[in-house]
Formats: sequence, structure tokens, C-alpha cells
Amino acid sequence: MHTRRAARAVIAVLALCLPLSACGQSSTGGSKEDKGGKGSTIGIAMPTKSSERWIADGRNMVEEFKKLGYQTNLQYGEDDVDQQVSQIENMITKGVDVLVIAAIDGRALSDVLQQAADQGIKVISYDRLILGSPHIDYYASFDNEKVGELQAGYIVDKLGLEDGSEKGPFDIELFAGSPDDNNTRYFFQGAWQVLRPYIDKKQLVVRSKQTKLEQITTLRWDGGTAQKRMDDLLTKAYGNESVDAILSPYDGISIGILSALKSDGYGTKAKPFPVVTGQDAEVASVKSIIAGQQTQTVYKDTRALAKQTVRMADAVLNDKQPEVNDTTTYDNEKKVVPAYLLRPVSVDKTNYQKELVDSGYIKASDLR
Ligand code: GAL
Repeated sequence: MHTRRAARAVIAVLALCLPLSACGQSSTGGSKEDKGGKGSTIGIAMPTKSSERWIADGRNMVEEFKKLGYQTNLQYGEDDVDQQVSQIENMITKGVDVLVIAAIDGRALSDVLQQAADQGIKVISYDRLILGSPHIDYYASFDNEKVGELQAGYIVDKLGLEDGSEKGPFDIELFAGSPDDNNTRYFFQGAWQVLRPYIDKKQLVVRSKQTKLEQITTLRWDGGTAQKRMDDLLTKAYGNESVDAILSPYDGISIGILSALKSDGYGTKAKPFPVVTGQDAEVASVKSIIAGQQTQTVYKDTRALAKQTVRMADAVLNDKQPEVNDTTTYDNEKKVVPAYLLRPVSVDKTNYQKELVDSGYIKASDLR
């Protein structure tokens, strides 16, 4: 660190020498020579502590980076975009060597990433792709479209619509994630591809008629916001009818939806809960699945994502090519960002034990 700070100070002084030729040295970019290995610092900007997964993501990365001898600066933006920007600015000022960022608003970071680029700091977009900036070097995430496919496929399966069955019509309502998170459209695209043929054949009916992404998003993935929308849908579109399935993109949203359903009398023999999907395998939702309320979640092993990201950063700092497995899907409007995508897994009552407990992702005692 000291060497790096000293190098930066020299660069800053050199930058003042005009014309550059008089100093005999270029002042552009950060020095690469002192990067890599022990002592380098990684700036980790996470979006919020209000969801379990981001707490685990931050903790896992810190542990993995430490194992390799790196130092870390971990900050949470608490879903406040300006706060996240100033946290990243601070990291740049303090001289981090690589930035790992899970953005709150995927479009709000262009200026701060320009500052990072000016300092020669490489950037890894974590889980959520940062948009509109050329200064994203790599992307580590899950196959986000697959997440939506798993959620919608589960609904189709549970309602017995597969394989040419003419069952139905079933009533379904659709929820999507935060409009400023790039993952939202991938999750929804994946789900919509699966659901659309059944909606076209009227085996699935969206009574509210709200099927466009902009009608169904949930700002900042907030459960309370989803609960209000679900209350509203039940009042305006259902009356005495009951809904059979809810596409929910994330566990926090599913819990909000379930609260609205409970208030409306769902959860009895006469009025059973609809199929409700989710994502992240959060403890509250897995408990809800065990209790027969939420039906499904999509498990994304954040331990594996942290490990993959740490490997990427380590390669970048040692001038090696990080491992990627997708170089076509994630166009952030300035470039196609090379990505490493992990595999999401659908989890319900039948496989939570194997996938979540036996794998050590959740402690059995946390589910009691
Ligand atoms: C998404 C992420 C999901 C979920 C959601 C809300 O970007 O991919 O797994 O965590 O944010 O936090």
C-alpha cells in the first residue's frame, strides 16, 4: 500500500510538470507495476444490508480476498445511489487497486468509473451489470435469464400445463424487480418466454392486464411496495375470484406478496395460497416454503460467486486473463462485457434439504 501511495504521489507530482516532455515521463493512468498479490486493496461496493444475500456476498468476498493476502474496503450503499457513488469515490481516493461493484442504480456510475479509469483501477461488475460505461472490465454473475426461466417453468409445471395439457385457465399476476437494476429485464425476459405461449393460448390469464415490464417493476426490490401492489391487484382485479400463481422475482418481494395474500384470507383449505416463486433462498423464504406458503425460490450460491470474483480480481492484478464463459450476452451499451456466469438452481420443499442445508448454505438450526 505504501509503495502504491508513494507511486500515486509521484504520478500526481509528475502530472503537474508541463509540458510532459520536460518531466521525461508520461503521467497518464495508474502505475501497473505495483499491482498484484499481497498488500493490494480491493474496494467492494455492495448495494444494501437490507437483504441477507448482500451481507453474505460482502463477507464471503472479504474472506476469500484475505486468504490470498489482499486487503479489502467493504462498503454498503443502503440503496442510496449518491451514497454509493461517494463510497466509490472515497475508495478511489484511498487508492484501491481493483473495484468490485454491485450497483444500486446500474446507470449512475459513469462519472465515478471515469475517475477509476483515470487512475488505472480495473472494475468488476458484481451480480448486476453496470450500464453505459466503457470502464467495466469483467462481469461475474449467474445466468440471469435462466433464473426467470426456472421461476416461470416452475409455475407451468406446478399448474400441470406442460406437455400439451389443455388445463386452465389459471389466473396469474406478474411482478418484476427494480427498474434500475439490469438483472430485472433478464429475469423477466426469461420468465416471459416461458409464460407467453400459455398466455397466448389463454391457459394463463393476467386479470389485471399488467404484463408490460414497466407496469410490474418494484423499485429497489422493496417488499412493502410489492405488498401494496398485490393488495391493489386483489381489490381491483379479483373480487371473489382467487389467483392461482404469482411470478415473483425475489424472496423479499415474495414475502410482501404473501402478506397481502394472508390479509385477503388466503392460506386456508377453501382459499389456498397460489404458487409463489422467488429468488435468493433467503432464510425467511425457505422457512415460508417449509410452512407451505411461498412455493419456490431460486438458489444462487453466493459463495461460488464470491470465489469466482476473487479469482477474476486476482488474475487482473497479476496481468493474467480471468476465466470467462460468456462473451456475447451482456452488452452494457458501450461494450459487450466478458462474463463468468454461474448456474442458478430451482428449490422447493422437495430439494431444499439437499441444495441448501446439505451444501452448508443454510444451517438446519436457522430453519427451525
Ligand atoms: C438482484 C439480484 C437478486 C436479488 C435482487 C434483490 O440484482 O440478482 O439475486 O438479490 O437483486 O437484492
